[in-house]
Amino acid sequence: MSDVLLKEKLDGRVGLITINRPDKMNALNGEVRCALLGALEAFRADDDVRVIVLTGAGEKAFIAGADIAEFKDAKPTQQYRAMQSGNIYSAMEAYPKPIIAMINGYCLGGGCELSMACDMRIASDRTRIGQPEINLGLIPGGGGTQRLPRLVGEGRAMKMIYTGEMIGAEEAGRIGLVDEVVPAEQLRERTLEIARTIASRSPIALQAAKESILAARRMPLDQGLQFERAWFSLLFSTQDMDEGVSAFLEKRPAEFTGE
Ligand code: COA
Repeated sequence: MSDVLLKEKLDGRVGLITINRPDKMNALNGEVRCALLGALEAFRADDDVRVIVLTGAGEKAFIAGADIAEFKDAKPTQQYRAMQSGNIYSAMEAYPKPIIAMINGYCLGGGCELSMACDMRIASDRTRIGQPEINLGLIPGGGGTQRLPRLVGEGRAMKMIYTGEMIGAEEAGRIGLVDEVVPAEQLRERTLEIARTIASRSPIALQAAKESILAARRMPLDQGLQFERAWFSLLFSTQDMDEGVSAFLEKRPAEFTGE
């Protein structure tokens, strides 16, 4: 595994991925993207890992966006091919296990977009978040024009994308761009607490919940409701559902296996 990315298993169930270019504010270059896809693939194949936490190394940045150095002299065709093959944002969104963005500082451009492709975002109070591509004569290319308006509304998304200005953690929390803001020194503990809670739930029910919630993005309401009902009914065939109901009736904690 390349050292631009660190991959650890915590408590046997939580996969922690750390982008490790702190001297470059964890900017995303080709090597990082490739290593990230590899780490996700390895954790996907590991049934013990039930939830992923994504963060950046150091105290300053989660991810300060795409590596701008790679933009110099890049050709449109190269750029398009790179974005089509192994699109990290789509891979994260469609990933079968929950992914939590642990946002520990600057969360800009592709960093903001990567966090939006995660299932939820927990941010330190020192976080600064934004889509500054307009300052480079660009627009967001990792889903920012699509996912940001869905999360915060068109007006706020247009303001952020047109001005390129960063907002602080508190405002990001207020507009729903991050789901929880915690003091920097408690960020890891709080994020891992949420991760451990999710890891204790039924993996197959988590996957059903994620697929049903994502279905709402591409389906009209009646079809989305049908999709949800189909998953709900299917879960009655799982050992986990049997275990969850039995554990409740027997007044004991459930032990879910994902079967
Ligand atoms: N791509 C490549 N390198 C980056 C980078 C990026 N997106 N963001 C930061 N870096 C590098 C800097 O070039 C600098 O490298 P150097 O020490 O070799 O010169 C290093 O990270 C530290 O950044 P610096 O700008 O000195 O830190 P700062 O605290 O003054 O500012 C930021 C931090 C994040 C506000 C600033 O680096 C920034 O605006 N980065 C670009 C953000 C951006 O536009 N992202 C969208 C890209 S599409």
